[in-house]
Amino acid sequence: MPKITILDLYKKKTEGKKISMLTAYDFPFAQLVDQAGIDMILVGDSLGMVVQGLDSTIPVTMDEMIYHTRMVSRAAKTSMVVGDMPFLSYQTSLEDAVRNAGRFLKEGGAESVKLEGGSQMAEVIRAIVNAGIPVVAHIGLTPQYQHMLGGFKVQGKGDAAREKLLADAKAVQDAGAFSVVIEGVPASLGKEITAMLRIPTIGIGAGPSCDGQVLVIHDLLGLFDRFTPKFVKKYAKLREQALAAVQEYKKEVESGTFPSDEHSFK
Ligand code: KIV
Repeated sequence: MPKITILDLYKKKTEGKKISMLTAYDFPFAQLVDQAGIDMILVGDSLGMVVQGLDSTIPVTMDEMIYHTRMVSRAAKTSMVVGDMPFLSYQTSLEDAVRNAGRFLKEGGAESVKLEGGSQMAEVIRAIVNAGIPVVAHIGLTPQYQHMLGGFKVQGKGDAAREKLLADAKAVQDAGAFSVVIEGVPASLGKEITAMLRIPTIGIGAGPSCDGQVLVIHDLLGLFDRFTPKFVKKYAKLREQALAAVQEYKKEVESGTFPSDEHSFK
């Protein structure tokens, strides 16, 4: 199977076929996601919370993102790799934005980048796209803006907020984004934006009508237990299984039952 391209994603929207996206941050997880046939792998700055143990995504750096994107790109034979631009890697100037977006392709091996923000990021999106770098926009609940939003709250409630998000969606499409992640908005708004745009929408807490869905893989697999947003569905309980396995190992080492003859050389 060849790599998924932006043309495949446009086609899926036109044909009414759903798009799947999942995060991954290293080779083994990216290999699972790729082999499962997921369309897009997002190397999300959520790695700050689920891999680095931080309380937010704000401290994540470009160098850390590139390090993780490289590992993911090595595993992604079919899935499109999307590098997530970390806080202050694109807000400072157009030049910084283009240079940092370019690093995801040149050094990380990604095929596209994602950045947070609506109308206020239109110029940045345009500059990055003009440099030949496909952009996924991200609107609604944008975690890098958590201090402006007053925390992790559902967005687009009420007429004014709804109108603002509709305008944001239109602005990022007009600026050249090939897709847009919509996070934490009422399902009815996810549906309205999806019907309005010609580019695919990828929802996370934006209802079932979006053209695709994205989740953080540690949430989906039940590996992250610090908190669980309402939009997360846990498809496995790997943390519990992993903990039980490690506890069993400790018991066997301490009792002398590991290693047995089976795991020893003659
Ligand atoms: O960083 C991330 O993983 C994201 C997704 C939650 C969309 O931005």
